[in-house]
Amino acid sequence: MSFSENLEQRWLLGIPQMDDTHREFAQLVDGFAEIDANDRDAFTERYQQLFRHTAEHFQNEDRLMCDSGFFATAMHKGEHERVLGEMARMGGYLQRGQVKMVRDYVLEHLPGWFEQHAATMDSALAGHLKNRNVNVNELTQPQTAQE
Ligand SMILES: [Fe+2]
Ligand SMILES: [Fe+2]
Repeated sequence: MSFSENLEQRWLLGIPQMDDTHREFAQLVDGFAEIDANDRDAFTERYQQLFRHTAEHFQNEDRLMCDSGFFATAMHKGEHERVLGEMARMGGYLQRGQVKMVRDYVLEHLPGWFEQHAATMDSALAGHLKNRNVNVNELTQPQTAQE
């Protein structure tokens, strides 16, 4: 089962803004299976797209947490920072030609990380937004995550 299919079946959280972003993330990750790892330029371009999308994904959630008074904001933001730092380090490996390693990271590490994150921190945030009846669209203007 692809990451996208798994997401549809198991990891939708009921907050459309978050779910739409997560769908885009899963589609971007799944797309890496189709990229020729020998085509370093194409691979790098896709990796940069994934990085920008993830940075916006995290920024939007960070803003939702701050604006709605989420109790675990610092911990959740810290995890976003950690993962973005890891992705930036992978970008450095990519520049040094380690395409295979970065491909494995995207296809084999990120889906598992996401499932863990969705099951814990993101679902806690979604639950908080639902419990408080937060109108997400009123609270924050999401940035367009897809380029
Ligand atoms: Fe998320
Ligand atoms: Fe998150």
